[in-house]
Amino acid sequence: MTKNAIIFGATSGIGKELAKILVNNNYKVLVTGRRLEKLKEIKATNTDKYLIKQHDITDIESSDLFFENLPFDKVDLIVLSSGVGDPNYKLKYSIDLKTMNTNVLGTTKLMQLSYNYFNKQGYGHLVGITSIASIRGNRHVPAYFASKAYQSSYLESLWMKAARSKNDIVVTNILPGYVDTAMAKGNMFWISTLDKACKQIYTAIKKKKKKAYITKRWRLVAVFLRIMPANIINKYF
Ligand SMILES: NC(=O)c1ccc[n+]([C@@H]2O[C@H](COP(=O)([O-])OP(=O)(O)OC[C@H]3O[C@@H](n4cnc5c(N)ncnc54)[C@H](OP(=O)(O)O)[C@@H]3O)[C@@H](O)[C@H]2O)c1
Repeated sequence: MTKNAIIFGATSGIGKELAKILVNNNYKVLVTGRRLEKLKEIKATNTDKYLIKQHDITDIESSDLFFENLPFDKVDLIVLSSGVGDPNYKLKYSIDLKTMNTNVLGTTKLMQLSYNYFNKQGYGHLVGITSIASIRGNRHVPAYFASKAYQSSYLESLWMKAARSKNDIVVTNILPGYVDTAMAKGNMFWISTLDKACKQIYTAIKKKKKKAYITKRWRLVAVFLRIMPANIINKYF
């Protein structure tokens, strides 16, 4: 039976590639983002399986309207992949504000709307694309790292809520290391191809994992980050 999915932030990168995998695995996918041209290009690749909706997640009211006007009668999977994160060497508030509006305020609204939708429906799978950055701070991109810690903690709270609920709700936190997308700027170690990263994300979704590091070897970095004192981390990152 065909399943229905929504991916927020699927005009490029991880969201776009994951949408392609879902479409090839019997999903109809509603893809979103601000860039309409990109959405139209995606739709043109498979008009039956893709639905598109231009949506800016920082427009909080429009997220309510989005969920009130879904083109599906049921939703099996929602993936939250929208995100921004620019370096902020001189601590300019405007740079951090953009990150907070998108990764914290806009994403909180979507996490709430998704969970409540699934609660009403009685089942569903919510996937948040956070980051390995959620584990510690970083002097170059402070708001991005803090926002990912926030998302990760919020998702864990939803996981806890779901575990105590009578409904069949699954919550998965995906923590990518570096993945070769527009967001990954510069020379990065252990950078994964989009293809490999998204195949691993899809496997984690199928297995209904609580948490998955992408690619898998980033689990080692996660252990290192958790145990190392801040001055050591500051030397290498
Ligand atoms: N690439 C990495 O190395 C890496 C590592 C760890 C975590 N991540 C996380 O993975 C997620 C996807 O990033 P990516 O690497 O695939 O980068 P990307 O190609 O830049 O994708 C970001 C997506 O977010 C969407 N987006 C940004 N602001 C938005 C807004 N206000 N409203 C709606 N959509 C918005 C963009 O769409 P529009 O511009 O069309 O709106 C785009 O589709 C992000 O949450 C990122 O933090 C990435």
